[in-house]
Amino acid sequence: MAKYRIAWMPGDGVGVDVMDAARIVLDKLTLDAEFVHADIGWEFWCQEGDPLPERTISILESCTCGLFGAITSKPIDEAERELHPDLQNRGLVYRSPIVRLRQHFDLYTNLRPCKAFKGNPLNYKDDIDLVVFRENTEGLYAGVEFYPLPDEVRQALTMHSGAMARFESTSGDDIALSTRIITRAGARRIIRKAFEYARDFDYPTVTLVEKPNVLRATGGLMRSAAREIGSDFPGIELWETNIDAQMMWLLKNPQEYGVMVTSNMFGDILSDLAAQLVGGLGFASSGNIGDHFAVFEPTHGSAPKYAGQYKVNPIAMLMACKLMLDWLGEQAKAEALEAALSAVILEGRVRTYDMGGDNTTLEMAQAVVDHLP
Ligand code: IPM
Ligand code: MG
Repeated sequence: MAKYRIAWMPGDGVGVDVMDAARIVLDKLTLDAEFVHADIGWEFWCQEGDPLPERTISILESCTCGLFGAITSKPIDEAERELHPDLQNRGLVYRSPIVRLRQHFDLYTNLRPCKAFKGNPLNYKDDIDLVVFRENTEGLYAGVEFYPLPDEVRQALTMHSGAMARFESTSGDDIALSTRIITRAGARRIIRKAFEYARDFDYPTVTLVEKPNVLRATGGLMRSAAREIGSDFPGIELWETNIDAQMMWLLKNPQEYGVMVTSNMFGDILSDLAAQLVGGLGFASSGNIGDHFAVFEPTHGSAPKYAGQYKVNPIAMLMACKLMLDWLGEQAKAEALEAALSAVILEGRVRTYDMGGDNTTLEMAQAVVDHLP
């Protein structure tokens, strides 16, 4: 029996292309793993009304971890139109499968390293080494949303918040509410992970990126949790910045920052900016990590217009494999993979279109394989 059982979830669009690249590289690394295909993606929404079928959850429950490619999501009305006619008008609602996976398996850490590889023509500046810790299960993406706004919810809000007075005359159909839920336990565990990472990999600071001057309740709770946890790590300085200013500072002085920690939506935004500083989404990987299970993915989407063309850059996907190898404790393989990626980028002979070349996804993967021992 193989040592690891890995759920193999290409999803759709270019998810399939980059997962093929991952396979070539993992095979060469001779990872002692069984790869178990699991259905996920837009076609399962259209055919079954669920892009994340129950059988996929069962497969994941039997696996060591999962590897995920990408998935298409569309706005509500388009999603409804593309449903199989038998499934239309049944009140089925499309919710992002990756967000559901994060919540279902309590994968509370979204680890997003963004490092400038030497020789990458797309680097905004050299020597950038950012690591975003994005809280992955709560905040604005917790799924507690209302539209139209039910009367009971409005009454409760009006009773407890004077700020609701301004919306008194707006009808329930004309008002939508998305809540930003932060729990102390949720804040503490993501912040602790960020500090532990800074300690383990020698980063001198952890930057809490929030907005407590305006979002007093939720931002304030994040800040107090950060100060509390920070006091357990006396060698690491806690910096506190606001999300808006942080975007500006990152463009100005990206090399000054290292580990950053933030809530779910701010982390979504911050990590795209961080990705762009080191070459864009083709270079950005994510680990969705809980206490006992994890799913690794490239941060990019399914880019339907490139689907099946084997055109997109597989580096993000291969970096996701590297994060998976780290998490599995396969350090030698993780290091070999990163070294091979670095060498291919530095040489610059094989490049996908985003890097100004015309090599395919699989040629890039093959170049990486050629650099593996
Ligand atoms: C990401 C993506 C997802 C998110 C989408 C696809 C739901 O943007 O992983 O950053 O918002 O988390
Ligand atoms: Mg995102």
